Amino acid sequence: MSIIIETHDISKVYRMGAETINALKSVSISINKGEYVAFMGPSGSGKSTFMNIIGCLDTPTGGTYILNGQDVSNMTDNELAEVRNKEIGFVFQTFNLLPRQSSLENVALPLIYAGYSKSEREERAQKALESVGLGTRGKHKPNELSGGQRQRVAIARALINDPSIILADEPTGNLDTKTSYEIMELFENLHAKGNTIIMVTHEEDIARYAHRIVRLRDGLVESDTLNPDVTTAARMQAEQQH
Ligand SMILES: Nc1ncnc2c1ncn2[C@@H]1O[C@H](COP(=O)(O)OP(=O)(O)OP(=O)(O)O)[C@@H](O)[C@H]1O
Ligand SMILES: [Mg+2]
Repeated sequence: MSIIIETHDISKVYRMGAETINALKSVSISINKGEYVAFMGPSGSGKSTFMNIIGCLDTPTGGTYILNGQDVSNMTDNELAEVRNKEIGFVFQTFNLLPRQSSLENVALPLIYAGYSKSEREERAQKALESVGLGTRGKHKPNELSGGQRQRVAIARALINDPSIILADEPTGNLDTKTSYEIMELFENLHAKGNTIIMVTHEEDIARYAHRIVRLRDGLVESDTLNPDVTTAARMQAEQQH
């Protein structure tokens, strides 16, 4: 199995006037290609800070980060943006869609930076919407969609550049239980297709979908365990196939 994300002794210090906040103290973790990992932990334990660093939205204060074999810890903002566009799809708790743009336009947006023509962008965006079950909602603006549909548009947008890693920071935080499970089904499909999925969640029943659960506390890894439910199910499935 090949390692896709490897951090060594990552730290992040925020300075606010006289106060310094050690959001991450020392996080060393390695994630294989195709893993499905949930990050949990109390509010303020550093989950989003860590996600932003592994998603190349922010850089660590100390330590090294190797993404797909490449040391990205000391890259410039422009270099980081390039890696991010190629490797990573983001899904946020608040969807982060542009309110005046249609679903299709929101999904097609990342393709503008990738240099596709308008018709190519629309064709690909339509396919991405279809893949999340929203083929007939391309013209709807975000406020003309349900919460679950908005999150699916955001997922389609995250997938449009064919990233190998999906990062989701509390993707079901603003959704009801039933819709949350629908989003989790979608993540299962993406995982089954070989994507690496890393999500943050506060909810134990959402974390149960992941194959590995990492708990952070006070900027440190408190525990890192395989999810016994999924491990057993995956093993039984493998046994059946043999
Ligand atoms: N941009 C920032 N500037 C200063 N301090 C920050 C910044 N972002 C986060 N922090 C601080 O760093 C610590 C970790 O924050 P982080 O957002 O990573 O927590 P979290 O685990 O995601 O929490 P939650 O579950 O509430 O989302 C917190 O104490 C927070 O106040
Ligand atoms: Mg957070």
